Amino acid sequence: MTIRVLHVASELYPLLKTGGLADVTAALPVALIEQGADARVLLPGFASVAAGLADLRPVARLARTFGAPEASLELGHLPGNGLPVYMIRADALYARPGSPYLDADQVPYGDNAQRFALLGSAAAQLAQHADPDWTPAIVHAHDWHAGLAPAYLRAAARERRLAGTRTVFTIHNLAYQGIFPAQQFDMLGLPADFFDMHGVEFYGQLSFLKAGLYFADKITTVSPTYAREIQTVAQGCGLEALLKGRAHDLVGILNGVDYAIWNPAHDDAIAAHYSAAHMSGKPRCKTALQARLKLAQRQDAPVFAVVSRLTEQKGLDLLLGAVPEIVSRGGQLAVLGTGDASLEQGFTRAARQHPDAVAVELGFDETLAHSIVAGADVMVVPSRFEPCGLTQLYALAYGALPLVHRVGGLADTVADASLENLADGLATGFVFERFEPDALAAAIRRAFALYARSHDWRATRERGMHQDFGWAASAQRYMSLYRELA
Ligand code: ADP
Ligand code: GLC
Repeated sequence: MTIRVLHVASELYPLLKTGGLADVTAALPVALIEQGADARVLLPGFASVAAGLADLRPVARLARTFGAPEASLELGHLPGNGLPVYMIRADALYARPGSPYLDADQVPYGDNAQRFALLGSAAAQLAQHADPDWTPAIVHAHDWHAGLAPAYLRAAARERRLAGTRTVFTIHNLAYQGIFPAQQFDMLGLPADFFDMHGVEFYGQLSFLKAGLYFADKITTVSPTYAREIQTVAQGCGLEALLKGRAHDLVGILNGVDYAIWNPAHDDAIAAHYSAAHMSGKPRCKTALQARLKLAQRQDAPVFAVVSRLTEQKGLDLLLGAVPEIVSRGGQLAVLGTGDASLEQGFTRAARQHPDAVAVELGFDETLAHSIVAGADVMVVPSRFEPCGLTQLYALAYGALPLVHRVGGLADTVADASLENLADGLATGFVFERFEPDALAAAIRRAFALYARSHDWRATRERGMHQDFGWAASAQRYMSLYRELA
């Protein structure tokens, strides 16, 4: 029997992306369809979503609208691959330019609870036949934005308005929790007893993330190591006890790479194509990158690079301190990112001090991101915590050795170029254990040492390029989970 799965999320590449979530919500449903599922996506009707979907047609009016004068469900598809996508049309809540979460002053919108409650509620309405032609057996909600979907479904099940829809909640990042004042609970229309320690209440406030974790039938997160880490006080963000209590319902399933988009043999965003067997395009990409960023034109200088949100999570303050280590050894650093003002200023200052060796582009630029991964020798991901991380996987595919802190998905996907790993043919990058300046500096020195041994460098790079992080294996794991539930 074909399993009908509805993925509920706030972002979808290429329509709207602020981070890896969008890459996952775009690739996973397609991979599930390849495994025989009948998968669709539900998104809020943000301006770029409404503009980007093809053949949108009305499906239903929505019952609960959270203050929007009009709220309805439409169905369209992604122009590229035909993936069916439901969109909530509620312009009063969603049709705003810029970030889906923040206003022009980078402050969360005051009505975010309404905006994302409607997402959860619409998912529950789809499970109750809002679209007479298609009802999901599984509602799979992603991150806090969709956290209320399992709560509304539980409420409906209790009133016997619902037969058998099961729910999965995926944690992409436990640090973003969707916390709102307790007073906002009343407008949600959930049963009063849901505002409880055993429910959506979190230290006296309302937590959309906790709603997902508490009410979903199964919880997944995006790497096996992060699944263990979030059950500890150090990384549980206050939810470790709940997660530990649900350990038998919690599983870590590694994200994959969409090699249709991230493949240097076909990538139209990069200066020259290449593959593990034909690497001559890679130095041309490096030359093009150095030219674009006005770095010194030197093939012999290893280019370290970052493509990242500039937030506390990503550990780039540690890298900022290591700029002298890279520059004094003759390396270069290219940074593409946007976020915290102090990091933006710090890297901008470093670029001004070393104009030939350090370059910074502030902003979000998909094409430049591809050019950087293609032109770089090393991609640096020194995150304090990292649920999965996709940039190190893209780096492997593009022959840029990842240099990572040993946490979360980074620990699960990169093997350090230690002498023993080199000897055993296991090394794919550089891994440091402690989040300390000396540990990062040592990993950077290891990168320079390997770069000087070009035979070992090429062998490590080739091994990385041959790693298969395609979605098929992970999609199969999700399929088993759905079958277990259905
Ligand atoms: P996170 O989701 O925590 O931001 P991931 O590594 O999972 O981290 O995913 C980040 C995604 O966002 C990757 O696709 C990366 O290329 C992209 N990205 C991050 N910052 C930028 C930027 N400034 N410009 C373009 N792409 C970016
Ligand atoms: C989050 C995490 C990142 C993960 C991504 C997709 O944004 O920070 O580690 O790769 O979601 O799951």
